[in-house]
Amino acid sequence: MNLLVMVPTYNEAENIDPFLKALFAALPPEGQVLVVDDNSPDGTAGIAEALRSSYPGRLHLLNRPKKQGLAAAYLAAFAWGLSRDFDVFLEMDADFSHRPEYVPVMAEAIGSYDVVIGSRNIRGGRVEGWSKTRNFISKGGSLYSRLVLGCPIRDLTGGFNMWRKSALEKIGLESIISRGYSFQVEMKYRAFRAGCSIKEIPIIFPDRTAGRSKMSKKIFLEALVKVWKIRWTSGRDTGVDQFVKFALTGGLGTVTNLALFFLAADLAKLPEIPVSIGCFMVAGTQNYLINHLWSFRKYTGKTPPSIRKWALFIGSSSLGLGVNILVMTSLLARVNLPFKFIAQGCGILAGMVINFILSKLVVFRKRSA
Ligand code: GDD
Ligand code: MN
Repeated sequence: MNLLVMVPTYNEAENIDPFLKALFAALPPEGQVLVVDDNSPDGTAGIAEALRSSYPGRLHLLNRPKKQGLAAAYLAAFAWGLSRDFDVFLEMDADFSHRPEYVPVMAEAIGSYDVVIGSRNIRGGRVEGWSKTRNFISKGGSLYSRLVLGCPIRDLTGGFNMWRKSALEKIGLESIISRGYSFQVEMKYRAFRAGCSIKEIPIIFPDRTAGRSKMSKKIFLEALVKVWKIRWTSGRDTGVDQFVKFALTGGLGTVTNLALFFLAADLAKLPEIPVSIGCFMVAGTQNYLINHLWSFRKYTGKTPPSIRKWALFIGSSSLGLGVNILVMTSLLARVNLPFKFIAQGCGILAGMVINFILSKLVVFRKRSA
């Protein structure tokens, strides 16, 4: 097994040296470690750097210019590891709250599951050294997230989690919306929705003895709100939200088309047919861009628009237009309708559905990671 332990750090100068030593002592011999430091002012990165020669080829350091939060650090770490062909990823804090002795236990379990969660909220797991208030807040946060999301995972907020590469691919890291601590909730919820097999393993979580937690009231409140957003954006691939956005985009495209047509054909008195084709191309391009950046964002992620996809989309729209005309004319020919525009309405709907299906399955198709 090709394991990468990812350790985000911000001001962990007191912890990082003993932590890394304890971690390596517990790690399977081929396991590697990536420390992701956000330019900690206390010099954490330098201390980690000094240890590199003791673990040749196994300890890596990713230095980032400034503090960007836990989610950004982890996303960078996942990207780093995915591009180097690791197949198992472990998230771990540097402050000894995540005890290294659990790493082999989790590594064993990942043989039979897609995701293994170090859990404080199942039998055998618990937090040690937290005040009643902090415990209550943490338990409450977990319960709240579970209820809002309808997700059976007991420790949704915890940060000691192991992922198989295939699970990360199913989740689709490019579409993660969290930037703060809700990242942990979102990752697990998405894994659950994507049908990953998930195992919670009980852990004892002692409070840190050195350094300070970066958790704040603001971060906590932000996470409470974020849970709702996660619920509405994650894992729902029914296409309903995509279709609504696609239809709105098409509506806006029609407005653009009509406005240009009015300018060119009515005001500038240009010939209608070439004007109509031109309007179709401009509105089609606008639709392509909005669909790329908005309607199908979940599929396109950070990839830029391309000429090839634009051409595919224009082709798909032309086909939609063809279907529109076909449905409209055949309805007019066969059915006795009180108004002709009803036939055109049915045509538009049929054309839009065809265009949507082609867009979803071909043009903006989700890349298979
Ligand atoms: N690179 C980087 N950038 N690291 C960070 C940042 C950041 O902005 N913020 C925190 N870290 C590092 C810390 O240095 C530590 O190694 C780890 O992330 C966890 O941060 P703590 O400040 O110790 O978090 P905590 O103990 O309050 O929260 C833990 O429990 C939460 C649930 O109760 C973490 O495991 C969270 O992930 C978890 O949600
Ligand atoms: Mn901590």
